[in-house]
Amino acid sequence: MSQERWSGVDRYVEETLVGADGALLQAAGASAEAGLPPIALTPALGKLLHLIARMSGARSILELGTLGGYSTIWLARALPADGRMVTLELNPSYAEVAAANVQRAGLAGLIKIEVGPAADSMRTLLAAGAGPFDLIFIDADKQGTPEYFQLALALSRPGSVIVTDNVVRGGALIDADSEDPRVQGMRRFHDLLARERVGGQRVTATTVQTVGAKGYDGFTLALVER
Ligand code: DHB
Ligand code: MG
Repeated sequence: MSQERWSGVDRYVEETLVGADGALLQAAGASAEAGLPPIALTPALGKLLHLIARMSGARSILELGTLGGYSTIWLARALPADGRMVTLELNPSYAEVAAANVQRAGLAGLIKIEVGPAADSMRTLLAAGAGPFDLIFIDADKQGTPEYFQLALALSRPGSVIVTDNVVRGGALIDADSEDPRVQGMRRFHDLLARERVGGQRVTATTVQTVGAKGYDGFTLALVER
């Protein structure tokens, strides 16, 4: 099986099921135009996040790693009219692109974009008594994932769902002596989850491997139990 076939199937799923419309296509186009790295979710995975948000009845969502707002739009569209979403982005020029995309999608009223290091913004949210969030999507720098997950738990409640992107890394996840700090970040993240009890809360999780237009990777789906 090849990358060509994975991309072909992604296109097929996009055409048959996903229904990415004007605002999403515009967001992807404007992000490419602005020179953002081409690392946004594929449409099929964007729709998966949207479905997870709807299936879990999420009314509040926190995202780490806004990039151009493509995943932000998929997620915010799962919210009820009185829902809210906070999305964290380190790079101010990415955040500007995202703000324009979110505005064009008609979602600016639901979404707050916070610029700065994700861990700092999360501590600020905690101090302000924000949360708990029903759904948290972790898709920022990969080394930071273990810390982000622990902060995410502090911003959660029993029943919250935490999705983490890019955990499999072409299969490198099982290379214990990898020198890639992103791989080691995802291994420490799995070590945390394996303990089940993190920061006084109990979580249960699985990791799903994916192939598609962006190659071979995967995501972790975690449920805060208590
Ligand atoms: C990278 C980041 C992502 O969030 C992703 O989905 C793919 C790649 C990266 O930093 O290379
Ligand atoms: Mg990602």
